[in-house]
Amino acid sequence: MAAYPHALVAYATAAGSTAEIAERIAWMLREAGAEAICTPVSPDLDPAGFDVLVVGSAVHNMAWLRPALDFLARAAETGTPVWCFSVGGLAHPYRGRLNRFMATGELQKVAQGFPAAFTPRDHRMFSGVVDMKGAPLWARLFYRLTGSGPGDHRDWVDVVRWARAVADELPRRGAGRHEQVL
Ligand SMILES: Cc1cc2nc3c(=O)[nH]c(=O)nc-3n(C[C@H](O)[C@H](O)[C@H](O)COP(=O)(O)O)c2cc1C
Repeated sequence: MAAYPHALVAYATAAGSTAEIAERIAWMLREAGAEAICTPVSPDLDPAGFDVLVVGSAVHNMAWLRPALDFLARAAETGTPVWCFSVGGLAHPYRGRLNRFMATGELQKVAQGFPAAFTPRDHRMFSGVVDMKGAPLWARLFYRLTGSGPGDHRDWVDVVRWARAVADELPRRGAGRHEQVL
């Protein structure tokens, strides 16, 4: 039995903004006393042997990046509690009725790509970094409508708050693996 809970924060990114969010989450878990590894997903990354798994991905076309979905399928098979986060282009996913509606709909759509019969402990949408270069007109209109646009919209307070909530559920020290989730 590990003296400290072991956490894995695994992510898939296209342009890097999701990696930094993952690093912040891992840092918060370490602050809470966990041994947290933060690393990109890969076919070689083994999800077994952790007390907590946090898996995140950039959202492209309302879906996670393929490597993140592949890893999530393997993570789900471990039976370990899994927290998920998505990083998308909405500037304030939960602020205002329209954005909340869009974020909720997008999370549902994203979750349709998750393994069947898998339920994450939580699934949260974070705002990311929007690059409009080459974005189609509909995307520009979408961003304008939801108060987003080009730039870094990451809300670190939001990320830290969510990471604290995950940390609050780390297994109690001394409890058996997966036995005691606070
Ligand atoms: C090709 C492409 C498609 C995207 N599709 C979506 C989308 O469907 N929904 C959304 O909320 N954001 C979408 N975005 C925005 C990205 O998810 C956002 O910029 C995110 O921060 C990217 O994460 P990364 O920097 O880790 O790659 C898209 C971005 C790109 C480049």
